[in-house]
Amino acid sequence: MRTLIEYIINKEGELVELFGWVEARRDHGKLIFIDLKDRSDVVQAVFLPKPEELREKADELRPGWVVKLIGKVNRRPENMRNPDIKTGDFEIQAEQIEIINKSETSPFDIYGGGYEIGEETRMMHRYLDLRRPRLGKNIKIRSKAAKFIRDFLEENDFIEIETPILSKSTPEGARDYLVPSRLDPENFYALPQSPQQYKQLLMVAGFERYFQIAKCFRDEDTRGDRQPEFTQIDLEMSFVDEKEIMDLNEEMIIKLVGKIWPDKKIQQIPFPKISYQEAMEKYGADRPDLRENKNDPNLLAFCWITDFPFFEKDKEGKWTFTHNPFSAPKSEDMDKLVNMKNIGEIKAAQYDIILNGFEIGGGSVRNHDNKALIKVFEILGYSAEQIENNFSHMIKAFSFGAPPHGGIAYGFDRLIAILQNEPNIREVIAFPKTGDGRDLMMQAPSEVDKKQLDELGLKIKDKK
Ligand code: AMO
Repeated sequence: MRTLIEYIINKEGELVELFGWVEARRDHGKLIFIDLKDRSDVVQAVFLPKPEELREKADELRPGWVVKLIGKVNRRPENMRNPDIKTGDFEIQAEQIEIINKSETSPFDIYGGGYEIGEETRMMHRYLDLRRPRLGKNIKIRSKAAKFIRDFLEENDFIEIETPILSKSTPEGARDYLVPSRLDPENFYALPQSPQQYKQLLMVAGFERYFQIAKCFRDEDTRGDRQPEFTQIDLEMSFVDEKEIMDLNEEMIIKLVGKIWPDKKIQQIPFPKISYQEAMEKYGADRPDLRENKNDPNLLAFCWITDFPFFEKDKEGKWTFTHNPFSAPKSEDMDKLVNMKNIGEIKAAQYDIILNGFEIGGGSVRNHDNKALIKVFEILGYSAEQIENNFSHMIKAFSFGAPPHGGIAYGFDRLIAILQNEPNIREVIAFPKTGDGRDLMMQAPSEVDKKQLDELGLKIKDKK
């Protein structure tokens, strides 16, 4: 029966059956050593000069080969112990080896940090890059963090609800990815930039507390902390105010850090709350890095930025929303909104959460009053027809007893990257896109057959 490598430390003197990958082979003349790795850990195995048949097989082994190894767990002599690995007090004295699968030589080193290797090379063979211990750790910690958040939210009466990926183009600030419809030619779905409208509709449906670990899609230029496809921890609550939403989220983040990153120190609890105006005046930024010591990799400075202006003028001098057209104005500014007066002074019940100078999340209390919502669209310059085409589903839904509600979404990739001290969210995503939005391993995006285009009623205009 298989033993996972991490458990061999409890099996001194026993014969164990191990499965895994040869990480390295060292030929010391008389003795041959291999490092054998499985999902749990790595261990050194030693092959003695005899029996010869076994020894010959050991000679053949190369890094990356998949093997089954049967051997005895021996304690290493004192001076041969390796304190750098958890199994370092022991080694396996090989008795049988079976080569299950051979491997090409990896085109790049997969044991070091890997930061120095070109992105193209790493991404082309991402499955090898993911064998890198640093990346393996990031992906495992990400899973643990997701589970912690899921458990926390479920304990707090949230339910997880999936929302559609094939959806409608929404005005959320970024460019949409469009999906042509075969059954309804000339029409398109859009991939969701976030589940914003669906989660609000779930509040109308009466669920009161929703969350989702949600994939979001935005056709924008990729940067270190931006991917065209990324993950949000998305939540929405009914019958709550700004403070209640922020308090619950702060508790979740503090507990998450305490459980999964116990070595990290949160600089200030409760998290400071700074108005947008104060942040701009004091720090010249709406995502200030408040760390007292920026050299300390374990210091976490969270803060909330609140009271954002609801509207700002775009390049053409037209009003546009700063965050989200569905936000409520601060209650003291409701009059200005309804009367469309002093528009530039209207503040939104909107908050961002910042960590070490990065925006890790944002949300707001929403506008559940149709009259006020329609005023927002009017200020944004939408015609009655545009409002009808784009938002009638929301306005209609809100006419059926929409509860007061609000929520937040975290950039999960960003959160994990910062907590793992990674410079880039690509280091915490299993299969990220490159800087120019490509998946080099799958070779996407790619051309499609003419037949597929015909079915969709599409034609490529200018073929390069
Ligand atoms: P927002 O657009 O601010 O809000 O997104 C929430 C958080 O998602 C992260 N984020 C990204 N992460 C990686 N790549 C990207 N391209 C990217 N874009 C955004 C950021 C950001 O803070 N529906 C609202 C939330 C709400 O109001 O509840 C929304 O999507 O960390």
